[in-house]
Amino acid sequence: MSAGSNQMNVAVIGGEGIGPEVTTQARRVLSWFIAKRSLPVDLTEAAYGLEAYRATGEVLPPESRKVIDAADAILFGATGGAETKEVPIEARKKNTLLKIRKSLDLFANVRPIVTQPGLYEAAPLKARVLEGVDFVIVRELSSGIYFGEPRGIETLPDGSRRGFNTTSYTTAEIRRVARFAFELARTRRGKLCSVDKANVMETGVLWREEVVAMHAAEFPEIELTHMHVDNAAMQVVYRPSQFDVMLTDNIFGDILSDAAAVAAGSLGMLPSASLGPVDATGRRQAIYEPVHGSAPDIAGMGIANPIGSILSVAMLLRMTLGQPEDATLLERAVSDALAGGARTADIVEPGAKPMSTSGMGDAILDALERLAH
Ligand code: IPM
Ligand code: MG
Repeated sequence: MSAGSNQMNVAVIGGEGIGPEVTTQARRVLSWFIAKRSLPVDLTEAAYGLEAYRATGEVLPPESRKVIDAADAILFGATGGAETKEVPIEARKKNTLLKIRKSLDLFANVRPIVTQPGLYEAAPLKARVLEGVDFVIVRELSSGIYFGEPRGIETLPDGSRRGFNTTSYTTAEIRRVARFAFELARTRRGKLCSVDKANVMETGVLWREEVVAMHAAEFPEIELTHMHVDNAAMQVVYRPSQFDVMLTDNIFGDILSDAAAVAAGSLGMLPSASLGPVDATGRRQAIYEPVHGSAPDIAGMGIANPIGSILSVAMLLRMTLGQPEDATLLERAVSDALAGGARTADIVEPGAKPMSTSGMGDAILDALERLAH
């Protein structure tokens, strides 16, 4: 937000692989809301990834970094992919998505898993398992084994090599994400399941102790349970409807959110928000992005599912722009489009004809127009 005005800045970064295609559709949807609701939002495109490297020699050119730093929210597409090998490792390492997340201190990654009745037929799980699934994975995003030191690959005296990483969590890191998850549970069905590996790992022991202490001290009304991560991996596909809010660390959340995507019908359906701390002015930086990656095998073909990115716009409307009704409207439009048979290749029933990425964008915009009248 710029000083003295309520103008909000949203950076749009398509990135790599299918990122640009899906983000184009999400941007159309966001622009629809900005126009219809006269939202005070400036959209600014910023280059990231292979294209940016080809043009400037940097994965994240200084110009893009400025746009990111000035942004109240970033709508991000995807990063990575085979052809991006053209980017030398060092240039890539300097500016990975992980570095961007870290530089903005985005510690709370929110990944909602909601089933769509319209997709039961296409989903790999049985309809009775999918009935009533509506939960949120809160993944710690700024610490854990992703960032722990020491890390590296070293050569041992006998010439063989050893790769190593470090999992570490401080009480402060555990507490801030746990508080976020407890507060979220309070606005939902009041249930929190904390996932760790306390039977083996010290970080898990500390994690559980901190969550238990915070529960007793501040959130006694929340129904708190604990689960080991191996069991959780089974439960998210065995009986996903049991969860309301699931709290877990960085790498467990990475893995569990892909597993849970099976309940949503496809990885292409899942949105996410990554939120930083609230600063003194009440501002909190955020990246909104689909959970899926760059999917290089289908990049540029115009067949990717844009719903993960479009539902990320709903999260942006709700969490950064303060438009909860518009967020709900958009989620309804997505459900309506799906109920009306809109399908990209990843969610199509056997034998039926899928639509393109932009076709899905059209179907959702049509549904929005209908709902708005
Ligand atoms: C995710 C992705 C990223 C992660 C990759 C692209 C670094 O898998 O957002 O889940 O591991 O966090
Ligand atoms: Mg992942």
